[in-house]
Amino acid sequence: MAVYLGIESSCDETAAAVVRDGRQVLSNCLLSQIETHKKFGGVVPEVAARQHLETINHVIAEAVAASGLGFSDLDGIAFTAGPGLIGTLLTGMMAAKSLAWAHDLPLIAVDHLLAHVAANFINTDLDPPFIALLVSGGHTQIIHFRSFSEGEILGKTLDDAAGEAYDKTARLLGLPYPGGATIDKLAQSGNPAAFKFPEGVVAGYNFSFSGLKTAVLRCVEKLDTPLPLEDLAASFQDAVTRVLVRKTLQAQAETGTPAIVLAGGVAANKTLRSLFDQLSPVPVYYPSLQFCTDNAAMVAAAAAFCGKKVDLACGVYSRKKD
Ligand code: KG4
Ligand code: ZN
Repeated sequence: MAVYLGIESSCDETAAAVVRDGRQVLSNCLLSQIETHKKFGGVVPEVAARQHLETINHVIAEAVAASGLGFSDLDGIAFTAGPGLIGTLLTGMMAAKSLAWAHDLPLIAVDHLLAHVAANFINTDLDPPFIALLVSGGHTQIIHFRSFSEGEILGKTLDDAAGEAYDKTARLLGLPYPGGATIDKLAQSGNPAAFKFPEGVVAGYNFSFSGLKTAVLRCVEKLDTPLPLEDLAASFQDAVTRVLVRKTLQAQAETGTPAIVLAGGVAANKTLRSLFDQLSPVPVYYPSLQFCTDNAAMVAAAAAFCGKKVDLACGVYSRKKD
């Protein structure tokens, strides 16, 4: 296999990393913009793109230096081609193109969602087939990977993504953006049976989370302040994780795959991880916390398994085509 420099700029993390053979991380650098966007209650795309522009060269230089290698040791420059915010993706892509051209290296386009799944290859010997539960701020999908280039989407959210449900619920509880980690932390000391929130009944392997968020809102409207934040968080988290776990386990049973893989920012969730550990009949993989949320090591890892070699005239995409 090969050593790739990965560049990630799909949203609000500017990141670069060098990874050998898709498994061994030689360096992993990341500059988060969360503090900038917190005051707006969410990511402002134009602000994010400008901030990537200011910092991306420094982050890349740091990642290459920290890897102990030089550009001549690399086998390619990988970048996130989408889905993501168009302006931020363009910044990462232009940095990757410039470096590929200057150092005469292959340019490799990586899909952000596959990169989240590929985070599970880091420091493991995982190989397909497996069922992946991809749960991020923008996507919620159950995917059957027969090989890494052949993923069949068995189900997805019909409205909000799981991470989006966390962020919107956090906002209505008066918690800071992004809300996933904060709700998760509060939930650990709350009672999941304190409030009964609906799971969102949808056929097959699809999901719906928008009703859940509204149910939390209606409940909060009836409560006195200070709100019982721990119990609200635990009850909300119980509803989200229960349906994610149940449908993923069903998909594993139906396909007979020998492993389950969790991917995306919500895969950092404590309750989700522990429910899978308790209930899954097959081994469950989830990335270490630093590789769950957006990072560049997963981009460089994905490049080794499913990166597409592209030319300098390539573009980016803001939405996945499915
Ligand atoms: O994968 P990611 O970094 O970015 C996207 O590609 O969207 O996911 C970010 C999402 C946010 O919605 C954030 O609230 C959520 O992941 N998240 C969590 C946790 N940590 C991050 N959700 C639940 N529990 C967590 N511990
Ligand atoms: Zn992501």
